[in-house]
Amino acid sequence: MNGFHRKGQDLYCEDVSLAHLADVFGTPLYVYSLGFLQEQYEAFDSAFAGIPHEVCFAMKANSSLAILNELALMGCGADIVSGGELYRALAASMDPKKIVYSGVGKTSQEMSEAIDAGILMFNIESFSELIALDAVAGRLGKKAGISLRVNPDVDPQTHPYIATGLATSKFGIKYDAVIEGYERAGRLPNIDVVGVDCHIGSQLSSLAPFVEAATKLTDMLTLLREKGFDIKYLDLGGGLGITYDDEDPPTAAAYGLTLTDLMKDKGITLILEPGRSLVGNAGVLLSRVLYTKKGTDKRFVIVDAGMNDLLRPSLYDAFHRIEEVKQNQREPEIVDVVGPICESGDFLARGRKMNALVAGDLLATMSAGAYGFSMASNYNSRPAAAEVLVQGKKYAQIRTRQTYEDLVRGERPAVF
Ligand code: LLP
Repeated sequence: MNGFHRKGQDLYCEDVSLAHLADVFGTPLYVYSLGFLQEQYEAFDSAFAGIPHEVCFAMKANSSLAILNELALMGCGADIVSGGELYRALAASMDPKKIVYSGVGKTSQEMSEAIDAGILMFNIESFSELIALDAVAGRLGKKAGISLRVNPDVDPQTHPYIATGLATSKFGIKYDAVIEGYERAGRLPNIDVVGVDCHIGSQLSSLAPFVEAATKLTDMLTLLREKGFDIKYLDLGGGLGITYDDEDPPTAAAYGLTLTDLMKDKGITLILEPGRSLVGNAGVLLSRVLYTKKGTDKRFVIVDAGMNDLLRPSLYDAFHRIEEVKQNQREPEIVDVVGPICESGDFLARGRKMNALVAGDLLATMSAGAYGFSMASNYNSRPAAAEVLVQGKKYAQIRTRQTYEDLVRGERPAVF
């Protein structure tokens, strides 16, 4: 399914006009296609049909309850990185037995909540974390299932901020200390060693780094089994890229085929933690042009969505296509599409060729379904945008726009 497409000059999400949604709910507005999301999930899941596997959606990519709910209904689990994400996953009826917990800085309280919930396993990132988890599990009189997150020192050839499996990154346990780590884990009374894990980075555009990491992990699996560890799960993390512009990342089917080949006789359940590849192209951010102006040598189009709504262009210089919701026939010009935030780094696009825009025009910033709303903030005291989920001709508001009262909730003058 093409979640977003044109009917004549108008951009639609499935069978609903984006202009209509902007009229009903206002802008900035996140709009998601449920059909596209379902299709992405099914393509991903069926790509691994040949081996035992679990798809644990990396909910940092999009943690909106309705999105999680739909994924849970399809049988998807979750990769969480905080107590807040655990709370959301459970609120969205995710099966705790399909939840894995990643992240370098889990607190004792978060660990205890996750053990109580009965999650599948903790992906452990340091020895000190392992000791802390053992103590928490002991206090609860339970055992915690773990894998160690191996840092395989693989270059994922992606943006440096989202490369996580390099030796220089803060993530994982260095490869030559992993066996010792498992031996220490094996001696801890409240720890159950069940898996081995890695995640090398995000927005990967080729299979080679995945193959390199998977090979290092299966080598590790062999060593661990020789040492008597009963490893049931091999977690390869997420990272499959999507097309924002003209990238040509591997399809889920190709990714699945390659990994199935590597894993099929290993006697493990493969865990995958896709985020972006499931939701990235399922969502857009709608904004309206407020003003246009000509600077000394640039033209600016000022819209009502900013870096607080979609941070990726500002933070990573990331490219997102911007489409006119209603195509116009005006002469093209080169513009910077900027937001209302008081920062020069507040832009959605720079040096972009667009048909001339005027106040009132609606724009759709594409590929905003992953790391869009989930990275939004209230910077400049801007209320968070609303979100809408579309299914065929139907649509549902899945988040109301924040109010000014929401902005100050929990705040008060100091009383000493
Ligand atoms: N598993 C772990 C342990 C991760 O750290 C991540 C992403 C994923 C899975 C999911 O990766 P994905 O399939 O979405 O590539 N904010 C950045 C992306 C940060 C990714 C962090 N970790 C962006 O907007 O590009």
